[in-house]
Amino acid sequence: QVFKLEDYRPSDYLIPETSLEFRLSPQATVVAAILTVERREDISTSAPLVLDGDGLTLKRVEVDGKVVRPADLLTSPDQLTLLKPPAAPRFQLLIETELAPAGNEALMGLYRSNNVYCTQCEAEGFRRITYFLDRPDILSVYTVRIEARRDEAPLLLSNGNPVESGDLAEGWHYATWHDPFPKPSYLFALVAGNLGQVADNFVTKSGRKVELGIYVEPGKEALAGYAMDALKRSMQWDEEAFGREYDLDVFNIVAVSDFNMGAMENKGLNIFNDKYVLADQETATDADFANIEAIIAHEYFHNWTGNRITCRDWFQLCLKEGLTVFRDHEFSADQRSRAVKRIAEVRTLRAHQFPEDQGPLAHPVRPRRYREINNFYTATVYEKGSEVVRMIRTILGAEVFRAGMDLYFERHDGEAATIEDFIKVFEDASGRDLSQFALWYHQAGTPNLTVSSTHNPAAQEFTLEIEQSVPPTPSESRKRLMHIPLAFGLIGAGGKPVAYSGVEGASVEDGVIHVRKRRHVVRFSGVAERPAVSLNRGFSAPVTLSAEQKAADQYFLARHDSDAFSRWQAFNTLLTDALIAAFRQILGGKQPDFAPRLTELAGSIASDETLEPAYRALALALPGDADIARDIGKNIDPDAIHAARQALALAIGMANGEAFSGLYDSLADKSAFSPDAASAGRRALRNILLDYLSLLPDGAALAAGHFQSASNMTDRAAALAVLAHRHHGSPEASKALAAFEQTYASDPLVMDKWFQIQASVPGPQAVETVRALTAHAGFSMGNPNRVRSLIGTFSSANQTGFHRADGEGYRFFARTVLEVEKRNPQVAARLATALRSWRSLEPGRQAQAREVLVSIANAENLSADLRDIVERTLA
Ligand code: ARG
Ligand code: ZN
Repeated sequence: QVFKLEDYRPSDYLIPETSLEFRLSPQATVVAAILTVERREDISTSAPLVLDGDGLTLKRVEVDGKVVRPADLLTSPDQLTLLKPPAAPRFQLLIETELAPAGNEALMGLYRSNNVYCTQCEAEGFRRITYFLDRPDILSVYTVRIEARRDEAPLLLSNGNPVESGDLAEGWHYATWHDPFPKPSYLFALVAGNLGQVADNFVTKSGRKVELGIYVEPGKEALAGYAMDALKRSMQWDEEAFGREYDLDVFNIVAVSDFNMGAMENKGLNIFNDKYVLADQETATDADFANIEAIIAHEYFHNWTGNRITCRDWFQLCLKEGLTVFRDHEFSADQRSRAVKRIAEVRTLRAHQFPEDQGPLAHPVRPRRYREINNFYTATVYEKGSEVVRMIRTILGAEVFRAGMDLYFERHDGEAATIEDFIKVFEDASGRDLSQFALWYHQAGTPNLTVSSTHNPAAQEFTLEIEQSVPPTPSESRKRLMHIPLAFGLIGAGGKPVAYSGVEGASVEDGVIHVRKRRHVVRFSGVAERPAVSLNRGFSAPVTLSAEQKAADQYFLARHDSDAFSRWQAFNTLLTDALIAAFRQILGGKQPDFAPRLTELAGSIASDETLEPAYRALALALPGDADIARDIGKNIDPDAIHAARQALALAIGMANGEAFSGLYDSLADKSAFSPDAASAGRRALRNILLDYLSLLPDGAALAAGHFQSASNMTDRAAALAVLAHRHHGSPEASKALAAFEQTYASDPLVMDKWFQIQASVPGPQAVETVRALTAHAGFSMGNPNRVRSLIGTFSSANQTGFHRADGEGYRFFARTVLEVEKRNPQVAARLATALRSWRSLEPGRQAQAREVLVSIANAENLSADLRDIVERTLA
């Protein structure tokens, strides 16, 4: 079934109140739903009431206290139809269903994780609990009563505020929760089990005292401190940056170990993948700390952007996700280093969203069609969705943007809104017409800007010729011209900005060229000397650039651009160009060589004390194999790319050995561990230096020493990765892998790192390594974190292993995806996207990949989730 945006219509019935009663048991949980149903005024009394279900076992239906005659009902596991609802405009409907949470391996609806009952209802999991109008524009006030055996589940949580609790006969007990804010069913949540608690509180700016709780596996309370701190900082920040205050008496977070995604923003009861809650220096890396901070913030921010204002339908998913990602990006930028955060965001966008936008799974930020909504929780909806909001701020300026956001909250609080509503508040707040800009929501594909420049000294004129194009994408062959805010700078000798006396050919405001036509010739007058031009500063628009830049200009910008992002970009472009040239040399049977000025520049960036260590670490991180492949675009041979990358790493290491070694020593940190951004930055720089130094003589011994003396997981995991990747098969690598395994065998989240590091060891042997690890005692096909660490890493972060020339990587992968699918279709479908760029491979691999995709498509009993991905990938 294909769902279409234009088919939206409001439902005939509303459910203003929902009362749920759960009697929990692993194999036979009984759910009684008592719904207050209202017919809309203009709807005929003969309109049937059709409720969504998904695999439900129905026990009982009553209307206004009376059992419904079978002839007046149509029932199936996936639907419940009341053929003759009462004539009265308002009635009560009781539905009783029975569930087996212990057997629910899809992890949607009510399931058990580590003996804890929990729920995941977004997008359409609520219908696996009871029959309902399971669509986000049905807002209801929920009251939830949970009954369970006290020994099995001493803790009983749901949305909103606690109302009442007490004992029942035979060792059972109950708790009642009430959420006064009308909400869609996807925000419903329930948790019951034996969990440890970390308690704190927060006083909002208007004086409301909020009790905060984070619940974790008993004994792991000490690992939740960082998450709690991040939560309080998030609450504070949303008050300051967006004027948003929390609105209930309690805010709870529960960490569970089986979870399909990162976390879920259920009203007043966020449920998290424990990977994004639990951390201390012994078990979590700096990247883990940063992710926890960002995701705690993200889910908390949803309370306003998602919960108070929700989505009319699932086509509007980016209304809450793109906006909330933008908010969490800004939060992290304020808490850490803005420049470093921006570079990391762009790297993520390019690594995940660009290939999506440039391949068979491309879709607009607001899609018009879907078959399986779970497959649209994508980098496009989330990350590009965030970039679109960022562009609105760039175009309007921070103040007008804030006024627009204020208007959004004021106008749409309590509503299920659309992207049109969102754009309208900014048009109203600014008086601008954003209709051309709105194409960013409606048109798929990454726009490209071709830019060239000329300088005419006699006329003192500097000219930029800019041409936009948007490549065709599936089902959108012809594209309209976009409004692209292109931030730029003209830079003169010594890095000083170059002034100009006038500009024509495009509207230029505050350092931003507004590209709106196919072609602009932008003339800057009064420019005596030829400047270097810095383009797409701060990554003002999510586009690709084909700029004719002289190498000398790139070197100049890499040293002098005052925009930190663009300075990073200039060096990264130099590295990419060198890697692509080396790739071609290797294909031509030559030894690759690199310009000494490039390896020298790497050295001077590494030791430039005016730059933050975290920034230097990002600059020194070479584009990954997949980044290079994406930039080459077609006829990809991953082995040649990898060889080019290895050669450049070695060249940089050899050219800078002594300097890197001195710097590496000077960065050794003897002070007490702190997860703060500055300390993390120093560790990041030291660890990337280790990576280069490990390629030089005695590199394995150096890395082994780093591993042994590590006093935190960041350093330990970094050293282990260097040993496993750079010294694969060496005694040092084997010893470290074994030691790590022994130390952390009983800590699944840490073992995920061990799986990840091994799954990403480049080379043809990776298939066998990964296959063998699927039999490891710590691995489980039923746990999404394990599957992603081992299979996800292999297929998306190991180009030479996964794309092994004989196709064995693909075949192993296909078998595994089908095995995962039997339990968890959603996770399987997500894994399968790893094959989306198959058409850019060289012909041999392309044929192998195609064959494997076809074999998945032909598998028996394919889930809707996986079928959707595979068929679109092949189309
Ligand atoms: N709304 C969640 C978040 O981004 C994601 C939940 C998606 N879950 C799913 N099964 N599709 O914060
Ligand atoms: Zn979200």
